[in-house]
Amino acid sequence: MANETHSLTQEQLNSWWMPFTPNRVFKTNPKLYVAAEGMHMTMADGRKIIDATAGLWCVNAGHGRKEIADAVHQQLMDMDYANPFGFGHPKAFELAHRLATEIAPEGLNRVFFTNSGSEAVDTALKMARAYWRARGQGEKTKFIARHKAYHGVNFGGVSVAGLTPNRKNFGPVIEADFLNHTLLPENAFSKGQPEHGAELADELERIVALHDASNIAAVIVEPMSGAGGVILPPKGYLEKLRAICDKHDILLIFDEVITCYGRLGASCASVATGITPDIITSAKGLTNGVIPMGAVMAKQEVYDACMQGPENIPEFMHGYTYSGHPVACAAALATLDIYKNEKLFERAGTTAEIWQEGIHRLDGLPYVTDVRNWGLVGAIDLEPHGEPGPTRGQQVAAKLLEKGITVRAAGDTLMMSPPLIIESSHIDQIFDAFEAVLKS
Ligand SMILES: Cc1ncc(COP(=O)(O)O)c(C=O)c1O
Repeated sequence: MANETHSLTQEQLNSWWMPFTPNRVFKTNPKLYVAAEGMHMTMADGRKIIDATAGLWCVNAGHGRKEIADAVHQQLMDMDYANPFGFGHPKAFELAHRLATEIAPEGLNRVFFTNSGSEAVDTALKMARAYWRARGQGEKTKFIARHKAYHGVNFGGVSVAGLTPNRKNFGPVIEADFLNHTLLPENAFSKGQPEHGAELADELERIVALHDASNIAAVIVEPMSGAGGVILPPKGYLEKLRAICDKHDILLIFDEVITCYGRLGASCASVATGITPDIITSAKGLTNGVIPMGAVMAKQEVYDACMQGPENIPEFMHGYTYSGHPVACAAALATLDIYKNEKLFERAGTTAEIWQEGIHRLDGLPYVTDVRNWGLVGAIDLEPHGEPGPTRGQQVAAKLLEKGITVRAAGDTLMMSPPLIIESSHIDQIFDAFEAVLKS
């Protein structure tokens, strides 16, 4: 596909060590974005592409939102930075309160700011250990996670990652054990949360018995695994995890870095499902992807337990130079206003029905072995061709890009998570393109 390099030299192209990208392939055929608006990205050759992934699961309100740009500009002019260690500024408190009251489920009303999802995960893991230590049970340190889980790239997150390629090159990690994932063949082509597999949560009893609850700090799961291939929780599964954690006095962490901020038709997966964890991690849609920011929402009990020791010493020895950055807070507040004023979470819930109809048009097409959806998320599994080189998933993604649609390929799984402003005409365009490519 023709794509201009925007006059970049090969030296410039070589200089950026790109994240999660096959660098050598990219640099022989760079795919450059140069502009973005609404549902679309513009490529260097001038072509407008439907952004069916909302960037990287983050641009929930669509690209180029003037309200956010104005808020960021104003904040830069008023106060570009404020030291968060021992000082505060009003917008951080205002934002924390809005997250506690408008986004988190009831009871998760203490909010810690980070700069990314990875930092949110590591913060949550540290909170869990600090909580047990504060309660005099400092030996509760282990974490239980899940196969195929993605929890970011910092060492805590890698330790609880269930994706082998993300762990194998990085040496010793902290101690964790793993539940099976919930991708079952009998649930293929399910619409929304699948029917079969709630009993997979019972495996947690076996793992708890093995390590003993007195050694376990927390169970961490994505309520819906995203990067691992859009793996949905069977009906009743999260309820069971919650009950087993309660029974054994183990904290439950929901990593909602992609499910928070509307994608499932509610503020977060916890609200969508009615299952309340003890800690939620979030990022991405918090600022519409405009400024890096994450937020960890914890039960008051977790916060209260940590508020001990001499009053002149920080109770939680953790934080970032940019925690609660004023510009990020301004972007987040403007983003929350858009979500609220445009009722985007409710809109996502309604559009999800049209999305479901659209994506399941692919059931039965050549090479398609599964189609899954929940809210405004979708995944299509393709039969591997078994040859070296680009996977069938990568081949189909490249063809879709030629037809003006960007999707995310992980092996032979194609994933989509469009902005919540998506219209039914875009949904038609996306699945018309899929049909044409798969039939060809
Ligand atoms: C569930 C989950 N946790 C954590 C992260 C890491 O977030 P970030 O890339 O902002 O560090 C991601 C990113 O995709 C994610 O999907």
